[in-house]
Amino acid sequence: MTFLNRVSLVAVAVIAGSLSAFAQTPAKPAPLITYDTQFQPTLAKNGMVVSQDYYASEAGLKMLKAGGNAVDAAVATGFALAVTHPQAGNLAGGGFMMVYLKDQDKTIAIDYREMAPARASRDMFIGADGNVDKRMAFFSYKSAGTPGTVKGLIEALNEYGTMSLAAVMAPAIRLAGEGFPMTWALEASLTSPRIIKRLQADAASTAHYYKADRSPYRAGELFKQPDLAKTLKTIADKGIAGFYEGWVADKLVATMQAGGGLITHDDLKAYTVKYREPIEGTYRGMKIVTMPPPSSGGIHIVQMMNVLEGWDLKNLGHNSADYIHRMAMTMKYAYADRSKYLGDPDFFNVPSAALTSKAYGAAIRAKIDLTKATASTDISPATKLPEESNDTTHFSVIDKFGNMVANTYTLNFSYGSGLSVAGAGFLLNNEMDDFSAKPGTPNAFGLLGGEANAIEPGKRPLSSMTPTFVFKDGKPMLATGSPGGSTIITTVLHMVMNVVEFDMNVQEATSVPRFHHQWFPDRIFTEPGISIDTRRALAGMGHVVNTEAVGGNRIIGAAQSIAVTPEGLIHGAADPRRPGSHAAGY
Ligand code: DON
Repeated sequence: MTFLNRVSLVAVAVIAGSLSAFAQTPAKPAPLITYDTQFQPTLAKNGMVVSQDYYASEAGLKMLKAGGNAVDAAVATGFALAVTHPQAGNLAGGGFMMVYLKDQDKTIAIDYREMAPARASRDMFIGADGNVDKRMAFFSYKSAGTPGTVKGLIEALNEYGTMSLAAVMAPAIRLAGEGFPMTWALEASLTSPRIIKRLQADAASTAHYYKADRSPYRAGELFKQPDLAKTLKTIADKGIAGFYEGWVADKLVATMQAGGGLITHDDLKAYTVKYREPIEGTYRGMKIVTMPPPSSGGIHIVQMMNVLEGWDLKNLGHNSADYIHRMAMTMKYAYADRSKYLGDPDFFNVPSAALTSKAYGAAIRAKIDLTKATASTDISPATKLPEESNDTTHFSVIDKFGNMVANTYTLNFSYGSGLSVAGAGFLLNNEMDDFSAKPGTPNAFGLLGGEANAIEPGKRPLSSMTPTFVFKDGKPMLATGSPGGSTIITTVLHMVMNVVEFDMNVQEATSVPRFHHQWFPDRIFTEPGISIDTRRALAGMGHVVNTEAVGGNRIIGAAQSIAVTPEGLIHGAADPRRPGSHAAGY
């Protein structure tokens, strides 16, 4: 053994010794943390919940500490977010939950996406002038799909959890009934002019989220939601029927009838949770397990990673112009395919195997010129509009047994349509806008929408939500996911690439600058932190490079992720991009 090796061994022993108070099982060597990065993850040994909100992460952690598993914690977190993060946490929205069961070494993909009501029709958002009526698609009672969240969370608990519904809902019921000190993050959201306009357009939402004089609650003030507490209590007592039947359903349907919405009692009764076969791929021997349609995310993550695997990206350097060029070109091809081939698999034959094959990845790679950009118009004649969406939320959970949950759910926009069910204390989604309102017809820009994603009764709108796991040597390595509308897929791609290709710890992988390309508009959206030199080099290759992200935002996504180190230590990363996110471990 050389002198240097001996010195480093001593150093490791000293670091390990200083951590001994942290180690709970003396039989195992103390886990190592390194001091070589500016981004430190949150550490834990037994379990962790990472979500957009402090109270919600702590609600999940409480279940883990009480002996519950990852699904118990996820369901507690999901219900708590509906109380403390109403921008996207919800009862009347929908989403996707991936569950990894350690003892069976198996991942289940639970689809609780909203369904189009029976009376929905293909042209329901086309106005008198023949164009899409955006107000109707975004902010009317018709924009609500039949909600899936309550059924999805309860079925997940019944199938894979260990605790009672009353136990996992207790934190949410308490937070709503007794109230909680308004967080800075929620105050910031509820005082933004855009949100005041959206919520105060509706009497029920105004009464729920603002004081009697319509002024906002300030951080630290107690915020109580008695109607929501009543609804949650009814669900805790009666289970699925507490939301889909009885007084809550009556109020939801009455709200629809009064406001011209489509959801009926029959739609609520007909709502079904689907158990889908996850999409699987590999990248340099690691296994990617991710969400299948009606999410488009999983297919495109695997498709893009198949393209990227053929290049030596590590040596190009993270976020170098050459790296960004290869990534952006790969993204263009994936988003072009998204517009044509992706929709609800119960209604449209999605060519999953072809899109995720290594051969197809290689074919795309062969088309990419490494020195210059190919214009989006030369990639395919069909295009799609960028999606208009602001809020969704993801959380990741791991328990002491090694089970994991990655869950992304949403109302679509922040606070959905802004319309609430009076007396029941919850907001309606505007997920119907995720359908292509005018498929097969050129839009205002002469571009085509996707036939695969046309509105049909009972169909689920195409989503980008991409809860994802990565496994190395058969062991869990990463659970991740993000909000961000069309940028969800590229955010998750960055998370996975940063961890598996660039060996970043999960906090570094989360914090470093992101970029995004979605085929149309034909430009690379970049976060602050992509240097001016790099942007200049990309412009030299023929790219249009924006200095802001989609929709004028300066940030892309908000990933909430958990990684497991080879030593078995849990690393959590709450995305610093949006206020309030919290990694809670023990
Ligand atoms: O399912 C989807 O893809 C969209 N409804 C997600 C919207 C969204 O992420 C907004 N969040 N930032």
